[in-house]
Amino acid sequence: METIIKKIDAENMTSGDFKDAAALLRDGKLVAFPTETVYGLGGDAFDPTASARIYAAKGRPSDNPLIVHIADIDELKKLCREVPDEAYLLADKFWPGPLTMIMKKADCIPKETTGGLDTVAIRMPSHPIARRLIQETGLPIAAPSANASGRPSTTKAEHVIEDLNGRIEMIIDGGSSDIGLESTIVDLTVKPVQILRPGFITIEMLKAVIPDIVYDKAVLKREKNDSVVARAPGMKYRHYAPKGELVIFEGEPDRVMDAILEASGKKLEEGYVVGILASEEFAGDYVAGISKKWPVLGTGNSSGREPYALIEVVGSRDNEETIAANLFDKLRDFDAKEIPYIFGECFPGDNLGAAIMNRLVKAAGYHIEKV
Ligand code: TXA
Ligand code: MG
Repeated sequence: METIIKKIDAENMTSGDFKDAAALLRDGKLVAFPTETVYGLGGDAFDPTASARIYAAKGRPSDNPLIVHIADIDELKKLCREVPDEAYLLADKFWPGPLTMIMKKADCIPKETTGGLDTVAIRMPSHPIARRLIQETGLPIAAPSANASGRPSTTKAEHVIEDLNGRIEMIIDGGSSDIGLESTIVDLTVKPVQILRPGFITIEMLKAVIPDIVYDKAVLKREKNDSVVARAPGMKYRHYAPKGELVIFEGEPDRVMDAILEASGKKLEEGYVVGILASEEFAGDYVAGISKKWPVLGTGNSSGREPYALIEVVGSRDNEETIAANLFDKLRDFDAKEIPYIFGECFPGDNLGAAIMNRLVKAAGYHIEKV
């Protein structure tokens, strides 16, 4: 099928911009759209065939439930069998925004949408294009991240085109997602309330509303052989992964830098191209260290044909929001150059760092070298 790419300017949009997208969604077809977290792959949440199409387009296992997106708090009563008080307290503080809440589902939500579960995940996004699309369609929109299953989530329309062109009816291009990591997911069906996926809304922020909230054990999992099973079905799959082998190094920043230089040198010596996922603070040191002996792409001493290092700056250690915003984009850059070995720094795991490390550890398939 031919995928229509539709540019919309959030600062200057009209109903007419959404006419075709809304008609497609009402007809059970799929439309990818920007949200403040990542791009979503939308379909009518009430339509089991639309959900089946979403799973097929992504190549996603059908036991992995979708998040239902709404634009009006009154929808909660319609979509959930029970709405606990905490839901309204959290919505009051964090909606519209990057928070997803799990509650018992009402009968109007088909099991195809919830991967067979009796619960449903609901989020009210803040991105103006996402909100307007939901309003103009007049339906709750089921939307997982708009990436091929297993790959890093998409934060730009170009990423969605890479993964889903020809597989869905339309992609709305609304520029880059601000946050860059998927929403925080909380499960309100258990006591104490649990965080199933960390995101921009941190545990500290949530504790201000629900003091006894805790992480699901799987969120903090660092060892591949640890037998804890994720309660969000999607978190158990290999995820966010670049095609190359990613190893992350944990320890004192200086030792991490030395270890990354050593690991890179070894692979370059063997004739491989390597990638380094670097913080702004260390990027210059990697360039200096590598270029003593090897070419670094983009610095003028590499033709891109010999073993070289590609150093991607993911953000500043002093500003985690920049790291969150760039992480998936940078992982995709390594793929675009088919880099077989990628070495990356670890970041402190509190606040937004918890979400960053959760994605990084999964992207690395739990391959963490302690130095
Ligand atoms: O920021 C986001 O949440 C983005 C944008 C598009 O809104 N969406 C997103 O969806 O990240 P997805 O499908 O890639 O991730 C949803 C996660 C999966 O891990 C899934 O297993 C979990 O939410 N989930 C959904 N419904 C659930 C439920 N009823 N119980 C437990 N986990 C659920
Ligand atoms: Mg996803």
